[in-house]
Amino acid sequence: MLPEEISVHDKIFIKYLSIEQIQERVDEIAASLRNDLTDKIPLFLAILNGAFIFAADLVRAMEIPLELSFIKISSYEGMERGKNAQTVLGLTESIKDRHVIVVEDIIDTGKTMEKLSEELFALNPASLRIVTLLHKPEAMQTEIKIDYIGFEVPDLFLIGYGLDYNKLGRQYADIFQLKPHIEHFA
Ligand code: IMP
Ligand code: MG
Repeated sequence: MLPEEISVHDKIFIKYLSIEQIQERVDEIAASLRNDLTDKIPLFLAILNGAFIFAADLVRAMEIPLELSFIKISSYEGMERGKNAQTVLGLTESIKDRHVIVVEDIIDTGKTMEKLSEELFALNPASLRIVTLLHKPEAMQTEIKIDYIGFEVPDLFLIGYGLDYNKLGRQYADIFQLKPHIEHFA
């Protein structure tokens, strides 16, 4: 039995999306991608660490020839908090003239993806698509176009299915949300 409620560090999280709901949506995204990429051998670039489980499920649902590689984004927090300089690590193959699909677990403000897509565009891929399992529209601070979105979610902290809270929680099959605070009245 998968748990309905989990405790991670100092917080309690409750189930938000089941693995069955996720898998159903992953299959739908794979079908759209397959449709848009006929006769191309796309290169999937999954962003570590969070997207590793989503990427594993997505590529297995694709059922077409494809390549998969992993990249990481290092963020250096400067003197001023919140002003991050980021750079792409681990991109060893050429993406020039390739049909690239960036696979992300969650897009929050969109800043990470904005910076990453600028860097990737500069390398002249034939096309660049962005797919994210989760998106928080309310938190968005950029204008980037997200091509495929699994679920639009409220601005709540989520863990599981690859997503972490201070490094813990990635291994859960389902996705959990931070349990809303319950007010007690006397
Ligand atoms: P953005 O640059 O604000 O879009 O941040 C995206 C990154 O923030 C994601 O790749 C996650 O690592 C992290 N993040 C944003 N929201 C959550 C969440 O609810 N749970 C876990 N990680 C999150
Ligand atoms: Mg991430």
